[in-house]
Amino acid sequence: MHQAALRAAGLEGSYRALETPPPLLQARLEEVRRAFAGVNVTIPHKESVLEYLDELSPEAAAIGAVNTIVCQQGRLIGYNTDALGFISGLEEAGIAYRNKKALVLGAGGAARAVAYALKQEGVHVAVYNRTTERARALCAAMGLHLVTEPLLETAVRSCDLLVNTTSVGLNDPTRSPLPPGLLPRAGVVVDIIYHPQTTRLLLEAQQAGLVTLGGLPMLVWQGARAFELWTGVKPDVRVMYAAAQAGLG
Ligand code: ATR
Repeated sequence: MHQAALRAAGLEGSYRALETPPPLLQARLEEVRRAFAGVNVTIPHKESVLEYLDELSPEAAAIGAVNTIVCQQGRLIGYNTDALGFISGLEEAGIAYRNKKALVLGAGGAARAVAYALKQEGVHVAVYNRTTERARALCAAMGLHLVTEPLLETAVRSCDLLVNTTSVGLNDPTRSPLPPGLLPRAGVVVDIIYHPQTTRLLLEAQQAGLVTLGGLPMLVWQGARAFELWTGVKPDVRVMYAAAQAGLG
């Protein structure tokens, strides 16, 4: 996706994967500091990387996770483009979300980015997570509404926007984070998992006549924002979509 965008913009450079086991993270960042314009950071480094950075953008600090690092005159600056990427995906799909009620499933790094983005846009955000204590901590930190197990059914049925940020369905798209048949009465269901196969949650939502959105738009838009941070150039998002789709098979 980034390689294609670089080519389309007529920029020199390459984007490649740097496999980094956790004990080697700090050394890798020193290499990045010397030789790279920037990097993306992914599982499992999005939170642990914070302590090695020289500066954080306001949203990365608020979310507590970094997915993009820019090297500027030897300084490493951390950003979180997942939040903007999520909102851009909703905007592109024409989904009305302002002043609506959202329910976020999950309480990990992805949930924090999505919840932060929605809250910033004036959405009423509730969070449900398998491990309640993790959801409770997130809700306390960001001023969100905690949903516990006994209230899950009511919270799901009455929300306008349901977002799955859990990893359920990632490796096996036939698995859903919700019990069969439990869906919002109306509105939109988003699954931020990107998988060539439609996830079970989205299939059930489509069958129930709900509007759905998969994970590809967020993937592409977070990447587009990162590209812009590294190069100062707005990439051709169509080119990035085509490359991402080809990569996902
Ligand atoms: P990320 O940073 O990508 O969000 P994470 O921090 O590992 O990744 O979070 C994964 C999320 O998926 C968590 O909300 C996790 O729930 P727990 O906090 O209870 O672990 C959720 N998750 C993973 N497997 C799950 C499962 N089988 N059922 C329900 N939730 C699950």
